Amino acid sequence: MGDSSSTSELRPKTWGGFWDIFGEVLVDFLEIQEGDRVFDIGTGGGSVLYPLLRGVRDSGQVIGVETCDHCAKATTAEIKRCKIKNAEVHFMDAREADFGGNSFDCVTAGFIGWDDYFDFDTLEYKKPDELMRSICRLLKPGGKFGMSTWLLQEDLDWMYRFLTSHSIECKRNYHIENEEGWRMILSEAGFRDIRVLTKSATYTYDTIDFWWKEMMDYDWLDDGENRDVITDSIKRDAFTSIQSNLTKEGGVPFKRDAIFVTAIRKDQTSSL
Ligand SMILES: C[S@@+](CC[C@H](N)C(=O)[O-])C[C@H]1O[C@@H](n2cnc3c(N)ncnc32)[C@H](O)[C@@H]1O
Repeated sequence: MGDSSSTSELRPKTWGGFWDIFGEVLVDFLEIQEGDRVFDIGTGGGSVLYPLLRGVRDSGQVIGVETCDHCAKATTAEIKRCKIKNAEVHFMDAREADFGGNSFDCVTAGFIGWDDYFDFDTLEYKKPDELMRSICRLLKPGGKFGMSTWLLQEDLDWMYRFLTSHSIECKRNYHIENEEGWRMILSEAGFRDIRVLTKSATYTYDTIDFWWKEMMDYDWLDDGENRDVITDSIKRDAFTSIQSNLTKEGGVPFKRDAIFVTAIRKDQTSSL
């Protein structure tokens, strides 16, 4: 990121909160090397991308991809604002990424979710894993893959229980993956030296209003919008119910647990 990152006005803005905490953990666990060329799947607000840039330094490069147009544009604008020269984010599905085969030292995938492909309860594939196939195509033999996924999101669990107790049929909003499943996925894809780390972090939403706003950014209903069903009276009830959880300063603390997995691509091609 060069010298530009050291001045605070040029510090890139991310989604903050849990994203930054766990983005740092993933990059530390990966032991990224100076000069590495890294492919970041689902860059979002850049909570993995910016720590990666600190690791690869000026001689390395990070290429991010995003299927959310708004996220790709916002993070590209931040990269430009902060005068970062060795990072770019493309509006693109990682499954279709065409940046040259065997060309990345490292691929990261922070909180992408693999439940479309793999059933973590039965430990079976639901369909061919096109995303892992693309990762194997992009990574150099001997290159590293690193990912993170949720084990627990207390704040989302709280909302799910709260809405359900008000007879609102809603989504849990996250799927729990596990170490066993990830060991299977990576072994079958032709990776070795699989390492796993579990981390827990408590994050405190500064105010009750901020916590509510963040919770309402999730789509709780299968069809229809939150505001059609989560009325002002339900919101008032939520504010009353959450009072017993508040910190002295009025913050709303919640715990999230994540697992991080890294592995090295074997020299021979995978079976995918
Ligand atoms: C939960 S966010 C995590 C963002 C970031 N990786 C982090 O850890 O802070 C996951 C992002 O991945 C993106 N995404 C999911 N599948 C993708 C794919 N196949 N290709 C590119 N982006 C994808 C989503 O649009 C979303 O913004």
